[in-house]
Amino acid sequence: MSLAFDPRTLGWLQRALTHEMRALQQYLAQSVLAQLWGEGERAAAFRREAEEELEHAARLMEELIRLGAAPNAAAIPPARLGRSIPELLAADLMLEKEAVLLYEGALAHAQRQRNERMMRLFSELLSAETKHARQLAQQLQETRDVAED
Ligand SMILES: [Fe+2]
Ligand SMILES: [Fe+2]
Repeated sequence: MSLAFDPRTLGWLQRALTHEMRALQQYLAQSVLAQLWGEGERAAAFRREAEEELEHAARLMEELIRLGAAPNAAAIPPARLGRSIPELLAADLMLEKEAVLLYEGALAHAQRQRNERMMRLFSELLSAETKHARQLAQQLQETRDVAED
């Protein structure tokens, strides 16, 4: 690890990893729950989300390991479940909105540091989570429309 390396960048990487591990836990738990409800298609969709978050976690771990730091996610809160698919989607939308704020902060820090590598990583993750949030808002709207029919 370069001694000149900015410790706050490591901090952002670890915080981002905490988010991704939390999102992974949440989507995986929701996939299991949806399967128990007999909602196979929805369970598969949550499972794909979990796999995408797993991929994000791996990318962050790669950066941490390259920098000589052990991946060290903080304690993560319980998965937010619910009694219906719209409740699950609403919990996910909140999580993804938090992710967008997190990656905006991480990207701003990388820009101040003129760290091109981190700028690329955080802007890619920011656009992935922005897309997640948009898709969730849309799915939530669709499930509510169905409920109102
Ligand atoms: Fe993610
Ligand atoms: Fe996400």
